[in-house]
Amino acid sequence: GKTNTYKFDIQLKNVSRMCQAKPIVTVNGQFPGPTIYAREGDTVLINVTNHVKYNMSIHWHGIRQLRTGWADGPAYITQCPIQTRQSFVYNFTITGQRGTLLYHAHILWLRATLHGPIVILPKKHVPYPFPKPHKEVTLVLGEWWNADTEAVINQAMKTGGAPNASNAHTINGKPGPLFNCSTKDTHALAVEPDKTYLLRIINAALNDQVFFSIGNHHLKVVEVDAVYTKPFETKAIAISPGQTTNVLLDTSKKTGRYFMTVRAFMDAPIPVDNLTSAGILQYIGTSNTSNPIMPVIPKINDTAFYTNFSSSIKSLNSALYPAKVPQTVDRNLFFAMGLALDKCSTCVNGSRASASINNVSFVMPTIALLQAHVNNISGVFTKDFPDNPPTPFNYTGTPPKNLFTSKGTRATSLTYNSTVQLVLQDTSILTVDNHPVHLHGFNFFIVGTGFGNYNSKTDPANFNLVDPAERNTVGVPTGGWTAIRFRADNPGVWFMHCHLEVHTTWGLKMAFVVENGNGAEQSVLPPPPDLPAC
Ligand code: C2O
Repeated sequence: GKTNTYKFDIQLKNVSRMCQAKPIVTVNGQFPGPTIYAREGDTVLINVTNHVKYNMSIHWHGIRQLRTGWADGPAYITQCPIQTRQSFVYNFTITGQRGTLLYHAHILWLRATLHGPIVILPKKHVPYPFPKPHKEVTLVLGEWWNADTEAVINQAMKTGGAPNASNAHTINGKPGPLFNCSTKDTHALAVEPDKTYLLRIINAALNDQVFFSIGNHHLKVVEVDAVYTKPFETKAIAISPGQTTNVLLDTSKKTGRYFMTVRAFMDAPIPVDNLTSAGILQYIGTSNTSNPIMPVIPKINDTAFYTNFSSSIKSLNSALYPAKVPQTVDRNLFFAMGLALDKCSTCVNGSRASASINNVSFVMPTIALLQAHVNNISGVFTKDFPDNPPTPFNYTGTPPKNLFTSKGTRATSLTYNSTVQLVLQDTSILTVDNHPVHLHGFNFFIVGTGFGNYNSKTDPANFNLVDPAERNTVGVPTGGWTAIRFRADNPGVWFMHCHLEVHTTWGLKMAFVVENGNGAEQSVLPPPPDLPAC
Protein backbone atom coordinates (compact mmCIF):
# COMPACT_ATOMS: atom_id res chain seq x y z
CA GLY A 1 0.00 0.00 0.00
CA LYS A 2 0.97 3.65 -0.14
CA THR A 3 1.33 6.20 2.62
CA ASN A 4 -1.33 8.88 3.13
CA THR A 5 -0.28 11.88 5.17
CA TYR A 6 -2.64 14.28 6.95
CA LYS A 7 -2.08 17.37 9.07
CA PHE A 8 -4.64 17.94 11.83
CA ASP A 9 -4.47 21.31 13.57
CA ILE A 10 -6.76 21.19 16.59
CA GLN A 11 -8.14 24.71 16.87
CA LEU A 12 -11.12 26.70 18.06
CA LYS A 13 -13.57 27.91 15.48
CA ASN A 14 -16.54 30.22 15.98
CA VAL A 15 -19.61 28.49 14.63
CA SER A 16 -23.17 29.74 14.69
CA ARG A 17 -26.18 27.46 14.77
CA MET A 18 -29.75 27.95 15.96
CA CYS A 19 -29.45 31.73 16.38
CA GLN A 20 -26.24 31.75 18.42
CA ALA A 21 -22.49 31.56 17.95
CA LYS A 22 -19.95 29.76 20.11
CA PRO A 23 -16.35 28.62 19.78
CA ILE A 24 -15.99 24.87 19.22
CA VAL A 25 -12.98 22.55 19.09
CA THR A 26 -12.32 21.44 15.50
CA VAL A 27 -9.83 19.81 13.15
CA ASN A 28 -8.46 22.52 10.81
CA GLY A 29 -11.48 24.74 11.56
CA GLN A 30 -13.91 22.23 9.99
CA PHE A 31 -17.08 20.82 11.57
CA PRO A 32 -17.40 17.90 11.05
CA GLY A 33 -13.69 17.34 10.46
CA PRO A 34 -12.04 16.46 7.11
CA THR A 35 -12.42 12.96 5.67
CA ILE A 36 -9.48 10.57 5.86
CA TYR A 37 -9.27 8.51 2.66
CA ALA A 38 -7.15 5.38 2.33
CA ARG A 39 -7.16 2.00 0.64
CA GLU A 40 -6.99 -1.31 2.40
CA GLY A 41 -3.28 -2.00 2.97
CA ASP A 42 -2.28 1.68 3.09
CA THR A 43 -0.36 3.33 5.89
CA VAL A 44 -1.87 6.50 7.36
CA LEU A 45 0.17 9.20 9.10
CA ILE A 46 -1.78 11.93 10.89
CA ASN A 47 0.27 14.70 12.42
CA VAL A 48 -1.90 16.16 15.18
CA THR A 49 -0.94 19.52 16.70
CA ASN A 50 -2.92 20.79 19.68
CA HIS A 51 -3.63 24.54 19.63
CA VAL A 52 -6.42 24.54 22.26
CA LYS A 53 -6.33 24.80 26.06
CA TYR A 54 -7.62 21.24 26.54
CA ASN A 55 -5.44 18.13 26.50
CA MET A 56 -6.13 16.17 23.32
CA SER A 57 -6.14 12.64 21.95
CA ILE A 58 -7.82 11.18 18.85
CA HIS A 59 -9.22 7.67 18.38
CA TRP A 60 -9.54 6.01 14.95
CA HIS A 61 -12.71 4.18 15.85
CA GLY A 62 -12.85 0.68 14.39
CA ILE A 63 -9.33 0.62 12.95
CA ARG A 64 -7.88 -2.63 14.25
CA GLN A 65 -4.41 -1.23 15.01
CA LEU A 66 -2.75 -4.65 14.81
CA ARG A 67 0.16 -4.42 17.29
CA THR A 68 0.05 -0.59 17.01
CA GLY A 69 -2.04 0.19 20.09
CA TRP A 70 0.11 3.30 20.57
CA ALA A 71 -1.89 4.90 17.75
CA ASP A 72 -5.33 3.86 19.07
CA GLY A 73 -5.89 7.11 20.95
CA PRO A 74 -8.01 6.75 24.12
CA ALA A 75 -6.41 9.11 26.66
CA TYR A 76 -4.77 7.35 29.62
CA ILE A 77 -5.49 3.93 28.10
CA THR A 78 -3.01 3.77 25.19
CA GLN A 79 -1.35 7.18 25.44
CA CYS A 80 -1.07 10.22 27.61
CA PRO A 81 -2.76 13.20 25.99
CA ILE A 82 -1.17 15.65 23.57
CA GLN A 83 -0.74 18.80 25.61
CA THR A 84 -1.29 22.35 24.40
CA ARG A 85 1.27 23.32 21.70
CA GLN A 86 2.47 19.69 21.42
CA SER A 87 2.23 17.32 18.43
CA PHE A 88 1.96 13.59 17.94
CA VAL A 89 1.97 11.56 14.72
CA TYR A 90 -0.58 8.73 14.67
CA ASN A 91 0.93 6.04 12.45
CA PHE A 92 -1.01 2.92 11.50
CA THR A 93 -1.56 0.49 8.64
CA ILE A 94 -5.02 -0.61 7.56
CA THR A 95 -5.01 -4.39 7.48
CA GLY A 96 -7.91 -6.51 6.25
CA GLN A 97 -10.52 -3.74 6.48
CA ARG A 98 -12.45 -1.69 3.95
CA GLY A 99 -15.51 0.48 4.43
CA THR A 100 -16.61 3.45 6.53
CA LEU A 101 -15.35 4.24 10.03
CA LEU A 102 -14.92 7.46 12.02
CA TYR A 103 -12.39 9.28 14.13
CA HIS A 104 -13.13 11.32 17.21
CA ALA A 105 -11.46 13.01 20.17
CA HIS A 106 -11.11 10.50 23.02
CA ILE A 107 -10.79 12.76 26.02
CA LEU A 108 -13.38 14.70 28.05
CA TRP A 109 -16.51 15.39 25.93
CA LEU A 110 -14.50 16.96 23.10
CA ARG A 111 -15.74 14.46 20.54
CA ALA A 112 -19.01 16.44 20.54
CA THR A 113 -17.48 18.61 17.82
CA LEU A 114 -14.18 16.89 17.05
CA HIS A 115 -15.03 13.98 14.76
CA GLY A 116 -14.95 13.05 11.08
CA PRO A 117 -15.21 10.20 8.55
CA ILE A 118 -12.65 7.55 7.65
CA VAL A 119 -13.29 6.08 4.19
CA ILE A 120 -11.30 2.94 3.38
CA LEU A 121 -11.60 1.91 -0.25
CA PRO A 122 -10.91 -1.68 -1.32
CA LYS A 123 -7.49 -2.45 -2.81
CA LYS A 124 -7.02 -1.20 -6.39
CA HIS A 125 -9.00 -3.22 -8.96
CA VAL A 126 -10.99 -4.99 -6.24
CA PRO A 127 -14.70 -4.21 -6.78
CA TYR A 128 -17.38 -3.80 -4.14
CA PRO A 129 -19.51 -6.92 -3.67
CA PHE A 130 -22.50 -4.83 -4.89
CA PRO A 131 -23.15 -2.80 -8.08
CA LYS A 132 -20.76 0.11 -8.52
CA PRO A 133 -22.51 3.25 -7.25
CA HIS A 134 -22.82 6.35 -9.45
CA LYS A 135 -21.60 8.49 -6.53
CA GLU A 136 -20.58 8.12 -2.90
CA VAL A 137 -21.82 10.47 -0.19
CA THR A 138 -20.79 10.73 3.46
CA LEU A 139 -23.40 11.70 6.07
CA VAL A 140 -22.11 12.39 9.57
CA LEU A 141 -24.91 12.42 12.16
CA GLY A 142 -24.13 14.43 15.27
CA GLU A 143 -25.59 16.51 18.07
CA TRP A 144 -25.58 20.25 18.66
CA TRP A 145 -25.61 21.90 22.09
CA ASN A 146 -26.23 25.61 22.43
CA ALA A 147 -24.20 25.44 25.65
CA ASP A 148 -20.54 24.50 25.95
CA THR A 149 -20.42 20.68 26.29
CA GLU A 150 -17.62 20.73 28.88
CA ALA A 151 -19.78 23.03 31.01
CA VAL A 152 -22.73 20.65 30.53
CA ILE A 153 -20.92 17.59 31.91
CA ASN A 154 -19.07 19.52 34.63
CA GLN A 155 -22.37 20.89 35.87
CA ALA A 156 -23.93 17.40 35.86
CA MET A 157 -21.05 15.96 37.88
CA LYS A 158 -21.54 18.75 40.42
CA THR A 159 -25.24 18.19 40.90
CA GLY A 160 -24.95 14.41 40.60
CA GLY A 161 -27.78 14.18 38.06
CA ALA A 162 -27.99 13.55 34.33
CA PRO A 163 -26.49 16.14 31.95
CA ASN A 164 -28.72 18.29 29.75
CA ALA A 165 -29.63 16.77 26.40
CA SER A 166 -28.45 18.34 23.15
CA ASN A 167 -30.60 20.94 21.37
CA ALA A 168 -30.66 19.27 17.96
CA HIS A 169 -29.31 16.38 15.95
CA THR A 170 -27.29 17.33 12.91
CA ILE A 171 -26.47 15.98 9.45
CA ASN A 172 -22.94 17.02 8.44
CA GLY A 173 -23.07 19.59 11.24
CA LYS A 174 -26.45 21.08 10.29
CA PRO A 175 -29.76 20.81 12.20
CA GLY A 176 -31.96 21.62 9.20
CA PRO A 177 -35.08 23.67 8.44
CA LEU A 178 -37.33 22.39 11.25
CA PHE A 179 -35.32 24.43 13.78
CA ASN A 180 -35.26 28.20 14.33
CA CYS A 181 -32.72 30.17 12.24
CA SER A 182 -31.60 26.92 10.62
CA THR A 183 -32.94 26.91 7.06
CA LYS A 184 -29.53 28.14 5.93
CA ASP A 185 -27.97 25.32 7.99
CA THR A 186 -29.58 22.46 6.07
CA HIS A 187 -27.62 19.64 4.50
CA ALA A 188 -28.82 19.38 0.90
CA LEU A 189 -28.04 16.38 -1.27
CA ALA A 190 -28.66 16.75 -5.02
CA VAL A 191 -29.22 13.49 -6.90
CA GLU A 192 -29.94 12.43 -10.46
CA PRO A 193 -32.79 10.03 -11.22
CA ASP A 194 -32.16 6.41 -12.28
CA LYS A 195 -28.86 5.98 -10.45
CA THR A 196 -27.53 4.19 -7.39
CA TYR A 197 -25.85 6.20 -4.64
CA LEU A 198 -23.74 4.83 -1.81
CA LEU A 199 -24.48 6.66 1.45
CA ARG A 200 -21.83 6.25 4.12
CA ILE A 201 -23.71 7.03 7.35
CA ILE A 202 -21.83 7.65 10.60
CA ASN A 203 -23.30 8.22 14.05
CA ALA A 204 -20.86 10.58 15.76
CA ALA A 205 -23.38 11.73 18.40
CA LEU A 206 -22.30 11.82 22.04
CA ASN A 207 -25.33 10.31 23.69
CA ASP A 208 -28.08 9.54 21.20
CA GLN A 209 -28.88 6.47 19.19
CA VAL A 210 -30.89 7.53 16.17
CA PHE A 211 -33.14 6.42 13.35
CA PHE A 212 -32.21 7.75 9.90
CA SER A 213 -34.70 7.65 7.04
CA ILE A 214 -35.54 9.35 3.73
CA GLY A 215 -39.10 10.15 2.62
CA ASN A 216 -40.53 7.61 0.11
CA HIS A 217 -37.20 5.79 -0.30
CA HIS A 218 -35.95 2.44 0.88
CA LEU A 219 -32.35 2.04 1.97
CA LYS A 220 -30.41 -1.11 1.14
CA VAL A 221 -27.87 -1.94 3.87
CA VAL A 222 -24.62 -3.35 2.42
CA GLU A 223 -22.04 -2.76 5.15
CA VAL A 224 -21.82 -2.03 8.87
CA ASP A 225 -18.71 -1.00 10.84
CA ALA A 226 -16.53 -1.59 7.74
CA VAL A 227 -17.71 -5.17 7.21
CA TYR A 228 -19.84 -6.18 4.19
CA THR A 229 -23.30 -7.54 4.98
CA LYS A 230 -25.92 -9.54 3.13
CA PRO A 231 -27.91 -6.74 1.45
CA PHE A 232 -31.38 -6.03 2.85
CA GLU A 233 -33.91 -3.27 2.40
CA THR A 234 -35.33 -1.16 5.17
CA LYS A 235 -37.43 2.01 5.55
CA ALA A 236 -35.06 3.32 8.26
CA ILE A 237 -31.75 2.43 9.81
CA ALA A 238 -31.07 2.30 13.55
CA ILE A 239 -27.55 3.48 14.36
CA SER A 240 -25.79 3.91 17.70
CA PRO A 241 -22.95 6.29 18.53
CA GLY A 242 -19.74 4.82 17.11
CA GLN A 243 -21.53 2.73 14.49
CA THR A 244 -21.36 3.21 10.72
CA THR A 245 -23.76 1.89 8.09
CA ASN A 246 -23.38 1.96 4.30
CA VAL A 247 -26.60 1.88 2.31
CA LEU A 248 -27.44 1.97 -1.38
CA LEU A 249 -30.04 4.52 -2.43
CA ASP A 250 -31.89 3.71 -5.64
CA THR A 251 -33.19 6.82 -7.46
CA SER A 252 -35.07 4.97 -10.23
CA LYS A 253 -38.18 6.66 -11.60
CA LYS A 254 -38.20 9.42 -9.00
CA THR A 255 -38.32 13.20 -8.91
CA GLY A 256 -39.08 15.73 -6.17
CA ARG A 257 -37.79 16.69 -2.75
CA TYR A 258 -37.62 14.51 0.34
CA PHE A 259 -36.62 14.99 3.95
CA MET A 260 -33.70 12.93 5.25
CA THR A 261 -34.49 12.70 8.96
CA VAL A 262 -32.61 11.97 12.16
CA ARG A 263 -34.50 11.20 15.32
CA ALA A 264 -33.42 9.71 18.67
CA PHE A 265 -34.55 6.30 19.77
CA MET A 266 -34.18 4.75 23.15
CA ASP A 267 -36.31 1.89 24.27
CA ALA A 268 -35.85 2.91 27.91
CA PRO A 269 -38.92 4.13 29.80
CA ILE A 270 -38.22 7.85 29.49
CA PRO A 271 -37.79 9.38 26.02
CA VAL A 272 -34.91 11.85 26.09
CA ASP A 273 -35.43 13.67 22.87
CA ASN A 274 -38.37 13.87 20.53
CA LEU A 275 -37.23 16.46 18.00
CA THR A 276 -36.67 15.73 14.33
CA SER A 277 -33.65 17.03 12.45
CA ALA A 278 -33.65 16.99 8.68
CA GLY A 279 -31.63 17.42 5.56
CA ILE A 280 -33.08 17.54 2.05
CA LEU A 281 -32.66 15.07 -0.79
CA GLN A 282 -33.41 16.94 -3.99
CA TYR A 283 -33.69 15.56 -7.51
CA ILE A 284 -31.85 17.69 -10.03
CA GLY A 285 -34.44 19.56 -12.09
CA THR A 286 -37.05 19.68 -9.29
CA SER A 287 -38.18 23.14 -8.23
CA ASN A 288 -36.80 24.46 -4.95
CA THR A 289 -40.21 25.52 -3.73
CA SER A 290 -42.01 22.17 -3.60
CA ASN A 291 -42.58 20.82 -0.09
CA PRO A 292 -40.22 17.97 0.86
CA ILE A 293 -41.92 14.65 1.64
CA MET A 294 -41.50 13.43 5.22
CA PRO A 295 -40.64 9.75 5.86
CA VAL A 296 -42.61 7.59 8.28
CA ILE A 297 -40.12 7.54 11.17
CA PRO A 298 -40.20 4.69 13.72
CA LYS A 299 -41.38 5.90 17.14
CA ILE A 300 -38.80 6.61 19.85
CA ASN A 301 -39.72 3.40 21.70
CA ASP A 302 -40.28 1.15 18.67
CA THR A 303 -38.43 -1.83 20.12
CA ALA A 304 -39.94 -4.19 17.56
CA PHE A 305 -38.53 -2.17 14.66
CA TYR A 306 -35.13 -1.92 16.35
CA THR A 307 -34.99 -5.63 17.14
CA ASN A 308 -36.05 -6.63 13.65
CA PHE A 309 -33.57 -4.23 12.05
CA SER A 310 -30.65 -5.45 14.21
CA SER A 311 -31.39 -9.11 13.57
CA SER A 312 -31.54 -8.48 9.80
CA ILE A 313 -27.83 -7.60 9.79
CA LYS A 314 -25.81 -10.66 8.73
CA SER A 315 -22.20 -10.88 7.58
CA LEU A 316 -21.84 -11.30 3.83
CA ASN A 317 -19.81 -14.46 4.55
CA SER A 318 -18.75 -14.99 0.93
CA ALA A 319 -15.68 -16.85 -0.33
CA LEU A 320 -13.76 -13.56 -0.52
CA TYR A 321 -15.12 -12.20 2.77
CA PRO A 322 -15.66 -15.19 5.07
CA ALA A 323 -17.05 -14.71 8.58
CA LYS A 324 -14.36 -16.22 10.79
CA VAL A 325 -16.59 -16.88 13.80
CA PRO A 326 -14.76 -18.68 16.62
CA GLN A 327 -16.48 -22.08 16.87
CA THR A 328 -15.01 -22.92 20.26
CA VAL A 329 -14.49 -20.75 23.33
CA ASP A 330 -11.36 -20.63 25.51
CA ARG A 331 -12.61 -17.95 27.89
CA ASN A 332 -16.17 -17.28 29.01
CA LEU A 333 -16.98 -13.85 30.41
CA PHE A 334 -20.29 -12.49 31.72
CA PHE A 335 -20.46 -8.70 32.22
CA ALA A 336 -23.48 -7.17 33.96
CA MET A 337 -23.74 -3.48 33.13
CA GLY A 338 -25.68 -1.12 35.32
CA LEU A 339 -26.43 2.43 36.32
CA ALA A 340 -26.36 3.23 40.02
CA LEU A 341 -26.25 6.09 42.53
CA ASP A 342 -23.13 6.66 44.62
CA LYS A 343 -23.03 8.73 47.78
CA CYS A 344 -21.70 12.23 47.10
CA SER A 345 -21.40 14.70 49.94
CA THR A 346 -20.78 17.68 47.67
CA CYS A 347 -23.64 16.90 45.28
CA VAL A 348 -27.00 18.66 45.47
CA ASN A 349 -29.00 15.52 46.27
CA GLY A 350 -26.27 13.77 48.26
CA SER A 351 -25.85 11.21 45.49
CA ARG A 352 -24.29 11.02 42.06
CA ALA A 353 -25.17 8.87 39.08
CA SER A 354 -22.54 6.23 38.39
CA ALA A 355 -22.25 3.24 36.10
CA SER A 356 -20.42 -0.03 36.39
CA ILE A 357 -19.57 -3.39 34.86
CA ASN A 358 -19.69 -6.32 37.32
CA ASN A 359 -20.06 -3.68 40.04
CA VAL A 360 -16.73 -2.05 39.17
CA SER A 361 -16.94 1.61 38.20
CA PHE A 362 -13.73 2.19 36.25
CA VAL A 363 -11.34 4.87 37.50
CA MET A 364 -9.13 6.50 34.87
CA PRO A 365 -5.40 6.14 35.67
CA THR A 366 -2.87 8.99 35.38
CA ILE A 367 -0.34 6.93 33.40
CA ALA A 368 -1.52 5.25 30.18
CA LEU A 369 -2.25 1.56 30.79
CA LEU A 370 -0.39 0.48 27.64
CA GLN A 371 2.78 2.18 28.86
CA ALA A 372 2.37 0.65 32.34
CA HIS A 373 1.82 -2.77 30.72
CA VAL A 374 4.75 -2.66 28.28
CA ASN A 375 7.19 -1.11 30.78
CA ASN A 376 6.02 -3.22 33.73
CA ILE A 377 5.15 -0.18 35.86
CA SER A 378 3.32 -1.48 38.90
CA GLY A 379 0.63 0.29 40.90
CA VAL A 380 -1.21 1.70 37.85
CA PHE A 381 -3.79 -1.06 37.37
CA THR A 382 -4.57 -4.62 38.40
CA LYS A 383 -5.46 -7.58 36.22
CA ASP A 384 -8.29 -8.82 38.43
CA PHE A 385 -11.37 -7.48 36.68
CA PRO A 386 -14.11 -9.96 37.64
CA ASP A 387 -15.19 -12.53 34.99
CA ASN A 388 -18.68 -12.53 36.51
CA PRO A 389 -20.77 -10.27 38.79
CA PRO A 390 -19.69 -10.73 42.46
CA THR A 391 -23.21 -11.89 43.38
CA PRO A 392 -25.54 -13.24 40.69
CA PHE A 393 -28.98 -11.62 40.88
CA ASN A 394 -32.16 -11.21 38.84
CA TYR A 395 -30.52 -8.74 36.43
CA THR A 396 -33.68 -7.42 34.83
CA GLY A 397 -36.08 -7.87 37.75
CA THR A 398 -37.31 -5.48 40.44
CA PRO A 399 -34.45 -3.04 41.10
CA PRO A 400 -32.16 -4.76 43.64
CA LYS A 401 -31.19 -2.46 46.51
CA ASN A 402 -28.16 -4.20 47.95
CA LEU A 403 -25.67 -3.57 45.18
CA PHE A 404 -22.78 -1.31 45.90
CA THR A 405 -20.34 -0.17 43.26
CA SER A 406 -16.62 -0.37 43.90
CA LYS A 407 -14.12 1.91 42.19
CA GLY A 408 -11.01 0.60 40.55
CA THR A 409 -8.64 0.52 37.59
CA ARG A 410 -8.96 -3.17 36.88
CA ALA A 411 -8.36 -5.05 33.62
CA THR A 412 -8.97 -8.54 32.24
CA SER A 413 -5.90 -10.40 30.99
CA LEU A 414 -6.39 -12.51 27.84
CA THR A 415 -3.99 -15.09 26.42
CA TYR A 416 -2.70 -14.27 22.92
CA ASN A 417 -4.88 -15.82 20.21
CA SER A 418 -7.42 -17.26 22.68
CA THR A 419 -11.10 -17.19 21.75
CA VAL A 420 -13.40 -15.19 23.99
CA GLN A 421 -17.14 -15.28 24.47
CA LEU A 422 -18.49 -12.27 26.30
CA VAL A 423 -22.12 -11.93 27.36
CA LEU A 424 -23.11 -8.31 27.93
CA GLN A 425 -26.13 -8.19 30.24
CA ASP A 426 -28.12 -5.03 30.89
CA THR A 427 -29.43 -4.72 34.45
CA SER A 428 -32.15 -2.88 36.34
CA ILE A 429 -29.97 -1.90 39.32
CA LEU A 430 -31.27 1.65 38.89
CA THR A 431 -33.20 1.43 35.66
CA VAL A 432 -32.80 -0.61 32.49
CA ASP A 433 -31.08 1.21 29.63
CA ASN A 434 -29.66 0.66 26.17
CA HIS A 435 -25.86 0.41 25.98
CA PRO A 436 -23.98 0.60 22.67
CA VAL A 437 -20.80 -1.18 23.76
CA HIS A 438 -17.58 -0.53 21.80
CA LEU A 439 -14.49 -2.72 21.94
CA HIS A 440 -11.21 -1.17 20.76
CA GLY A 441 -8.70 -3.23 18.73
CA PHE A 442 -11.14 -5.88 17.47
CA ASN A 443 -14.18 -6.71 15.46
CA PHE A 444 -16.46 -9.18 17.20
CA PHE A 445 -19.29 -11.41 16.07
CA ILE A 446 -22.73 -10.87 17.58
CA VAL A 447 -23.68 -14.52 18.03
CA GLY A 448 -26.83 -14.04 20.09
CA THR A 449 -29.12 -11.51 21.71
CA GLY A 450 -32.32 -11.58 23.76
CA PHE A 451 -34.52 -9.89 26.34
CA GLY A 452 -34.53 -10.62 30.07
CA ASN A 453 -31.76 -12.57 31.80
CA TYR A 454 -29.23 -14.55 29.75
CA ASN A 455 -29.58 -18.28 30.32
CA SER A 456 -26.22 -20.04 29.89
CA LYS A 457 -27.96 -23.44 29.62
CA THR A 458 -30.53 -22.73 26.94
CA ASP A 459 -29.51 -19.60 25.01
CA PRO A 460 -26.27 -20.86 23.38
CA ALA A 461 -28.30 -23.46 21.44
CA ASN A 462 -29.72 -20.59 19.37
CA PHE A 463 -26.41 -18.85 18.64
CA ASN A 464 -25.59 -18.00 15.03
CA LEU A 465 -22.06 -19.29 14.44
CA VAL A 466 -22.32 -19.09 10.64
CA ASP A 467 -23.01 -15.53 9.43
CA PRO A 468 -23.58 -13.26 12.45
CA ALA A 469 -23.04 -9.51 12.15
CA GLU A 470 -19.38 -8.53 12.65
CA ARG A 471 -18.96 -5.10 14.26
CA ASN A 472 -16.95 -3.01 16.69
CA THR A 473 -19.96 -1.50 18.49
CA VAL A 474 -23.13 -3.36 19.50
CA GLY A 475 -26.37 -2.02 20.95
CA VAL A 476 -27.16 -4.22 23.95
CA PRO A 477 -30.96 -4.12 24.18
CA THR A 478 -32.69 -2.42 27.08
CA GLY A 479 -33.46 -5.07 29.67
CA GLY A 480 -31.68 -7.72 27.62
CA TRP A 481 -28.34 -9.22 26.66
CA THR A 482 -25.98 -9.71 23.75
CA ALA A 483 -23.34 -12.43 23.33
CA ILE A 484 -20.22 -11.63 21.31
CA ARG A 485 -17.21 -13.69 20.29
CA PHE A 486 -13.75 -12.59 19.19
CA ARG A 487 -10.23 -13.93 18.86
CA ALA A 488 -7.66 -12.15 21.06
CA ASP A 489 -5.12 -11.89 18.23
CA ASN A 490 -4.07 -8.28 18.86
CA PRO A 491 -1.57 -7.85 21.70
CA GLY A 492 -1.91 -4.63 23.72
CA VAL A 493 -4.34 -2.84 25.99
CA TRP A 494 -7.83 -2.36 24.63
CA PHE A 495 -10.57 -0.20 26.06
CA MET A 496 -14.18 -1.37 26.14
CA HIS A 497 -16.98 1.00 27.09
CA CYS A 498 -20.51 2.16 26.52
CA HIS A 499 -20.37 4.64 23.61
CA LEU A 500 -22.96 6.91 25.24
CA GLU A 501 -20.44 9.42 26.55
CA VAL A 502 -22.47 10.10 29.68
CA HIS A 503 -22.29 6.41 30.68
CA THR A 504 -18.54 6.32 29.97
CA THR A 505 -18.07 9.35 32.21
CA TRP A 506 -20.01 7.60 34.96
CA GLY A 507 -17.68 4.56 34.79
CA LEU A 508 -19.20 2.05 32.33
CA LYS A 509 -15.81 1.07 30.95
CA MET A 510 -12.98 -1.44 31.44
CA ALA A 511 -9.85 -2.62 29.65
CA PHE A 512 -8.57 -5.88 28.23
CA VAL A 513 -4.88 -6.69 28.28
CA VAL A 514 -4.02 -9.10 25.48
CA GLU A 515 -0.64 -10.54 26.46
CA ASN A 516 2.15 -10.91 23.92
CA GLY A 517 2.43 -14.28 22.19
CA ASN A 518 5.67 -15.92 21.10
CA GLY A 519 8.28 -13.75 19.40
CA ALA A 520 8.21 -10.28 17.90
CA GLU A 521 5.43 -11.02 15.38
CA GLN A 522 3.00 -11.67 18.24
CA SER A 523 4.06 -8.71 20.39
CA VAL A 524 3.21 -5.04 20.70
CA LEU A 525 5.51 -2.92 18.51
CA PRO A 526 7.86 -0.51 20.31
CA PRO A 527 6.34 2.89 21.16
CA PRO A 528 6.84 5.74 18.67
CA PRO A 529 9.56 8.22 19.72
CA ASP A 530 7.14 11.16 19.94
CA LEU A 531 4.58 9.41 22.18
CA PRO A 532 3.36 12.13 24.59
CA ALA A 533 4.85 11.93 28.07
CA CYS A 534 2.59 11.68 31.09
CU1 C2O B 1 -15.38 5.54 19.53
CU2 C2O B 1 -13.42 4.40 22.91
O1 C2O B 1 -14.46 5.06 21.30
